[in-house]
Amino acid sequence: MKVILYMAITANGYIAKENNETPWSNEEWKSFSEKVKEIKNLIIGRKTFEIMDKEKEFQKIGNPFTVIVSNKEENSFNFVNSPEQAINLLKQKGFSKILVAGGGMLNSSFMQKGLVDEIYLDVEPFFFGKGIKLFANNDFETKLELLETKQLSKNTIQLHYRILK
Ligand SMILES: NC(=O)c1ccc[n+]([C@@H]2O[C@H](COP(=O)([O-])OP(=O)(O)OC[C@H]3O[C@@H](n4cnc5c(N)ncnc54)[C@H](OP(=O)(O)O)[C@@H]3O)[C@@H](O)[C@H]2O)c1
Repeated sequence: MKVILYMAITANGYIAKENNETPWSNEEWKSFSEKVKEIKNLIIGRKTFEIMDKEKEFQKIGNPFTVIVSNKEENSFNFVNSPEQAINLLKQKGFSKILVAGGGMLNSSFMQKGLVDEIYLDVEPFFFGKGIKLFANNDFETKLELLETKQLSKNTIQLHYRILK
């Protein structure tokens, strides 16, 4: 089982503005969509789910099998209470690769629990002074091996790392 985290970030490590705005490029969106269509599933936090649902983004990325992590009790089979439960649900469904796609709070708990194997970061040409960080505050240190860099456009670079365990 391979767990892959995929995120667009500013050059200073933010994944959205405080108001949830994400001014990412078409090239970034295309690259993310292709990865979702390849892996065919997503694990996301409840806030990211609400935003993607409102913007009707699931249809645009090929309606992946989506698991939402939330502490709330929901009467829906694809809402779970922890990252481990999300992984187990997708394992049961027969997936061998899993895509984790934000937001910062969810990313942070996956990372802190050592559940991520690889990470793609699409670095967009922005700095935000304030916003939502790639990883919400949590005490961990992760060592990385750089597997590949790819230029997605004149201004956007993709970093692909393996997490060293
Ligand atoms: N740049 C990108 O590629 C990208 C990708 C995705 C999202 N985003 C942005 O990220 C922002 C949202 O990030 P966020 O950090 O505010 O929220 P988030 O991680 O999407 O969702 C947070 C919620 O998810 C649930 N959750 C997260 N970790 C959990 C855990 N370990 N156990 C149980 N429940 C857990 C909780 O839901 P309950 O409150 O229901 O308990 C929590 O309040 C948005 O602005 C979005 O646009 C950016």
